[in-house]
Amino acid sequence: MTTVSITPRLGADIREWKQRRNAIILAHNYERPEVQDVADEVGDSLALARTAAATDADVIVFCGVHFMAETAAIVNPTKTVLFPDLNAGCSLADSISADELRAWKAQYPGAVVIAYVNTSAEVKAESDYCCTSANAVQVVRSIPADREILFLPDLFLGSYVQRVTQRENMHIWMGECHVHAGIAASQVETVLKEHPEAELLVHPECGCSTSSLYQLADGTLPAERTHVLSTSGMLKCARDSTAQEFIVATEVGILHQMQRHSPDKRFMAANREAVCPFMKMITLEKVLDALQQNRHVVTVPNAVAKRARVAIDRMIAIG
Ligand code: 13P
Ligand code: SF4
Repeated sequence: MTTVSITPRLGADIREWKQRRNAIILAHNYERPEVQDVADEVGDSLALARTAAATDADVIVFCGVHFMAETAAIVNPTKTVLFPDLNAGCSLADSISADELRAWKAQYPGAVVIAYVNTSAEVKAESDYCCTSANAVQVVRSIPADREILFLPDLFLGSYVQRVTQRENMHIWMGECHVHAGIAASQVETVLKEHPEAELLVHPECGCSTSSLYQLADGTLPAERTHVLSTSGMLKCARDSTAQEFIVATEVGILHQMQRHSPDKRFMAANREAVCPFMKMITLEKVLDALQQNRHVVTVPNAVAKRARVAIDRMIAIG
């Protein structure tokens, strides 16, 4: 387990300022351990969007990446959303722009557009539905079978959903997250050989997720011990399982929550280098600075927010 000691003063100052501002701190499962530890809620994209929509705090400090803070600002526009470091972007969200999406839509008039939540507000505004890794399969299944689908921007998540739903009229944007794409099937196999009894938890954004489905079919991977899940799905699976060892194929920040929820179990990263540099930009010092200096306030222009909200609300309602 990663252990990081929080400077007691820093932790106390953050708690004091949180109270003073009537703020809530939300942190994604990939954040630094010490940032997760000061948060009121640590979760996946879907859970955090739901909490942001429902909170009655005046201020939401979002410890994650920029599109998550934007989503919070869209679903709860009367609150102040603070984002501790404006440089914390997302390579996957950057893989499609609103102009590129408009051009793609023009090629498939009448298609339903499903955007993974890892997209900018402008891209969401051009979309019919948003989804996260936790509900992508349900969102696709909710679309009538005769409607074409444009799924964006993640090719691995899209391919995974396509195989699970057996949807043929689904077109997938060729974007990827450089962190998850770097987790290869060969790395998973190596760790699995060293720990043959371990359960395997795979995030569908991973480079290995598509091949996992083929390997499950041909018996290379143990079907009963392999689970393709969102980050919160992985946490729940690890907590509920009677297994003692888990190989985790996603960003390594999640190991902190896993170890916290199940201290007696052993969690191993499929690839220890799977570290999201954007998530790690948020530090305790920046969280305190955000609360004290009221920065950086994230807002989304009304016209964009109004259209994006339709797609986000559909996502929140499904799954
Ligand atoms: P989830 O937490 O929704 O599984 O998303 C993973 C991710 O890559 C967020 O950037
Ligand atoms: Fe984006 Fe990948 Fe980082 Fe998630 S892990 S925030 S998808 S770059």
